[in-house]
Amino acid sequence: MARVFSGIQPSGTLHLGNYLGALQRFVQRQEVDDAYYCIVDLHALTLEISPDVLRQATLDTAALFLAAGIDPDRCVLFVQSHVAEHAQLAWLLECTASYGELLRMTQFKDKGQGREQVRSSLLTYPVLMAADVLLYDTDMVPVGDDQRQHLELARNLAERFNHRYGETFVVPEADIPEIGARIMDLQLPTKKMSKSTSSPQGLIALSDPPADIERKFRRAVTDSETEVRYDLEHKPGVSNLLEILAAATGGDPAALAPGFSSYGQLKQAAADAVIELFAPVRARYAELVADPGVVADALRKGAEKAEATAAPTLARAQRAMGLLSA
Ligand code: TYM
Repeated sequence: MARVFSGIQPSGTLHLGNYLGALQRFVQRQEVDDAYYCIVDLHALTLEISPDVLRQATLDTAALFLAAGIDPDRCVLFVQSHVAEHAQLAWLLECTASYGELLRMTQFKDKGQGREQVRSSLLTYPVLMAADVLLYDTDMVPVGDDQRQHLELARNLAERFNHRYGETFVVPEADIPEIGARIMDLQLPTKKMSKSTSSPQGLIALSDPPADIERKFRRAVTDSETEVRYDLEHKPGVSNLLEILAAATGGDPAALAPGFSSYGQLKQAAADAVIELFAPVRARYAELVADPGVVADALRKGAEKAEATAAPTLARAQRAMGLLSA
């Protein structure tokens, strides 16, 4: 059984990219692997967020995990800040990482751009992410394509630490799916669907009512041709719709293309598939919101189990670096 770890930032509205690139696969992997899933609230503090919004978003995200099929009896589901070892190991790894390699992270450049004030945690964020992963002796990290560079850094830090201080960490591997790893904005199909940069029309939220989902797909940007073909370079809009349909139904985007004679038909099929995929999640979410004790209970148990795995790893790293035990 592989040890699996992954995390999602708490934003009240997870979107179709989060679902197809990450959450859907978390549910699949909990059946066969030893999985740890984390709502990474400390990461959300790297950008401005009000305390009330963060509190609510953390609970909502946990409820969405459960609604999507994450089963606390089959995996460990917890909130990052409930396990103090994450912040503690992050410091040790900051003493392993270099300023230059953090400056090279493309997400730092993207998210920092145009802001008057950039929090220093936005720069060190990938180190905290490495700590998240390394604490659990993780073999596999299911993520979307935008986390590739961060995972590479986590691997480099693990290898550097092991080389400097002796074998301490398992070197993790990214598990990025071939289909669904980069869902694009429906209005700007050359940009990824993203909570922070997509317009409401370009993004499908897990909480969108079916009529909104249908309308957003109907208005999705395609091109002036008529042929339905999977061609990422020349037909990004059409290819994105094919990819969404494939990821939602378990098919292959290129093989699906000949089945459609118009863009309208493809848009309808993609909308129907996503509506069907989200319907049970929305129903279960409504039940969970009405009964918040279930979510709180699951998170409390999850934090205990996570801590039991994380504590010995932190202790190992502290000893290796020469810190005295208390
Ligand atoms: P976050 O919260 O931005 O995204 C959560 C997951 O969703 C994937 N994703 C997408 N996949 C396909 N298409 C898209 N348009 C799309 N947008 C987002 C992301 O790749 C991710 O898998 N730094 C991470 C959270 C994190 C983490 C970790 C992940 C913190 N510690 C440790 C793995 C392991 C982040 O901000 O993801």
